Amino acid sequence: MQVQLLHLSARHPAAKDNSAPALRDTTILIQQGEQVAVIGPSGAGKTTFLHAVACALKPANGQLLLPGQDPWKLPRSALQALRGQLFLAPQVPPLPPRQRVVTAVLAGRLPQMGLLQSLRSLFYPLEIPTAHDALKAFDLEEKIFERVDRLSGGERQRVGLARLLASEAKLWLIDEPLSALDPTRATQAIEVLTRTCRERGTTLVCTLHQVERALEAFPRIIGLRNGEVVFDLASGEVTRERLTALYSQYEHELFGPAPINAFPEQNAQPSQPAVMHCR
Ligand SMILES: Nc1ncnc2c1ncn2[C@@H]1O[C@H](COP(=O)(O)OP(=O)(O)OP(=O)(O)O)[C@@H](O)[C@H]1O
Ligand SMILES: [Mg+2]
Repeated sequence: MQVQLLHLSARHPAAKDNSAPALRDTTILIQQGEQVAVIGPSGAGKTTFLHAVACALKPANGQLLLPGQDPWKLPRSALQALRGQLFLAPQVPPLPPRQRVVTAVLAGRLPQMGLLQSLRSLFYPLEIPTAHDALKAFDLEEKIFERVDRLSGGERQRVGLARLLASEAKLWLIDEPLSALDPTRATQAIEVLTRTCRERGTTLVCTLHQVERALEAFPRIIGLRNGEVVFDLASGEVTRERLTALYSQYEHELFGPAPINAFPEQNAQPSQPAVMHCR
C-alpha cells in the first residue's frame, strides 16, 4: 500500500492544544512494497509518525493519503475497512494475560473475518496451522498452547510479531520490534519481517533504536528529530555525520559502550556510510 503524507502535523491526544505538534509539516511518499526504517532520538516523534499513518491519530494539519485517498474523509465503514488493511504493532503487544498464544496470534486475522467467525475464533481457534507457521518463523511453535502471561518479555514480543505474519495487512507499521530481543533473536526477527514483506509485496515502516541494524536491513532510512524529517535517504547515503547530527545531545542512544570519538577513521573518510555501535 502506498503511503503519502502532505505537510502533515500531528499532536498526541493527551498533549496540550497549544503545545508544538510531535510531528510537524511532514511530506513523505512511500511506495507500495517499500521497506523504510524510521530512526531518531527518544521523543523525536517516531511513534507519533506510525500512529498518524495508521489512522490512529487525526492530523492537526496537512493530509494523509492511503493509497491516494484521505482516510479521514471516508465514511466510517470505509475507514474501518481501510484500517483492516493496516497493522500497527506497538512496542509492547497488547496481549490479554490469560489468553493462549494461538488465540493471540490469530487475533492478527480478525480484521479479515466477519463478526461470527471472529467470535468463534476467540473460543475455538480455527486456523491453528496458520498460527503454527507464524510462530515457527520465530522458533516459538512449541509455545502455541501456552498462556501469554507465562512467556518471557522477548517471547511476548515475538508473539506480537507472529501476529503480523498471520495477518493479511498490506501495510505493516512496527514500533521498536527488537527492544526486548537478544542480538540473535533480533537478527532473526528483522530477517523474517523484511523477507515476508518482500515476498508479499507488503509495505513495511519500522521504527528502530538500533541504527546499525536499520542501516543493514532497510534500503531507506528516515531520520526524525524534534518532530521533523532531518533526512530521508537510501541507507548507503546515511553518513556518520548525518547520524551524529541527528543524535546530537542524545549520543548515548546512538553509541554503545564505545566513546563517541572512538572512530579514528571517521575523519579520514567523512562521507562513508556509517557503521555504528548501538545499544
Ligand atoms: N502521552 C503523551 N502525552 C503528551 N504528549 C506526548 C505523549 N506521548 C508523546 N507525547 C509527545 O510527543 C512527542 C513525541 O513522542 P513519540 O512517542 O512519538 O517519540 P518517539 O520518537 O517514539 O520516542 P521514543 O524513542 O522514546 O519511543 C514527545 O516528545 C511528547 O512531546
Ligand atoms: Mg516511540
